[in-house]
Amino acid sequence: MSVVAQFEEGLGHAASEYKAAFDAARDEPALRAANARYTGPSGIVTKLLKLMPELPKEQRRELGQRANRLKEEIESELAARLASLAHAQRAAELSGPALDVTLPGYGVRAGHAHPLTRVKHELLDLFAGLGFDIAEGPEVDLHENNFDRLGFPPDHPATDMQDTFFMQQPPGVSPRATLLRTHTSTVQVREMLRRKPPLAVVSAGAVFRRDDDVTHSPMFMQLEGFMVDEGVSFAHLKGVLTHFLRRLFGQNVPVRFRPSYFPFVEPGGEVDVGCTICRSWELGPRECRVCKNTGFMEILGCGMIHPVVFEHVGYDPERFTGFAFGMGLDRVAMLRYGIAEVGLLYGNDVRFLAQL
Ligand code: DAH
Repeated sequence: MSVVAQFEEGLGHAASEYKAAFDAARDEPALRAANARYTGPSGIVTKLLKLMPELPKEQRRELGQRANRLKEEIESELAARLASLAHAQRAAELSGPALDVTLPGYGVRAGHAHPLTRVKHELLDLFAGLGFDIAEGPEVDLHENNFDRLGFPPDHPATDMQDTFFMQQPPGVSPRATLLRTHTSTVQVREMLRRKPPLAVVSAGAVFRRDDDVTHSPMFMQLEGFMVDEGVSFAHLKGVLTHFLRRLFGQNVPVRFRPSYFPFVEPGGEVDVGCTICRSWELGPRECRVCKNTGFMEILGCGMIHPVVFEHVGYDPERFTGFAFGMGLDRVAMLRYGIAEVGLLYGNDVRFLAQL
């Protein structure tokens, strides 16, 4: 048989057969398989098209056009049938039996708040129970609120570029005008500017410093509290903090006040509680890498609010006194849940978090 006759016969067969082949296909895979027999890489029509260079010149154009037209016809028929198959399938789904919702579902395990969030709520709750108001402060604040009004001298090392994240400023504005707050003591300034004594306030949130090593994260959480009125004394400070720490860590936990320095308090102090990792106060001296065998963990800074802070917020320092305290929530969480590594609190490893 001549190439031309072979070509024409092939075209004829394909044209007369393909619809029947499509009709026989009941689903998409069958339809695609049928289609492959005609226009697939080794399909009949594809093979014919490959044969074209062997056709005599005079007929090549006409036969080639017929083969291409057939190919297009098959392709558009395929697309139409795929669409109607999908349509029929959807219609069957919609008119078929309803979803059986009585089948048992997959177990959903309830999650819980992050330990830092829980500690934060627990502490705020505890202070709210003592009559403290809860306040919020922004994470981006003025240099004045973070440093100057708290009595930091202009050259204090904490105000240095090394320790503080400063915000980018428009031209003409001091490059240190606004910053990511380095502590929650900003809330003291903000609340005192806004309100008049008597007042007792707590606030918790994120603070930021430029250190990042095994024991420090550039962002961490603090809780700040303070009370101002006529006649507030160091005894009130000790009473409130001792009560708070015993509620938090147990009635028998040792609490130790040490003198320390912060620019915004005078006198200033730090408070240590017995290390709840080794519990040496009840179990006797033990090796402990968390408290480094001292038996104590530093938990907060505190003091009597410095008169200079009152002056900066417009309170009469002759009339009012107050105390303030600040602590790292990560430290509290570590002691509360017996976590020996601070990094675990910020690693977001569900295998760890699910255990708490
Ligand atoms: N702001 C201090 C810090 O971040 C902590 C602090 C110390 C807060 C003494 C206070 C305070 O309110 O009285 O290190």
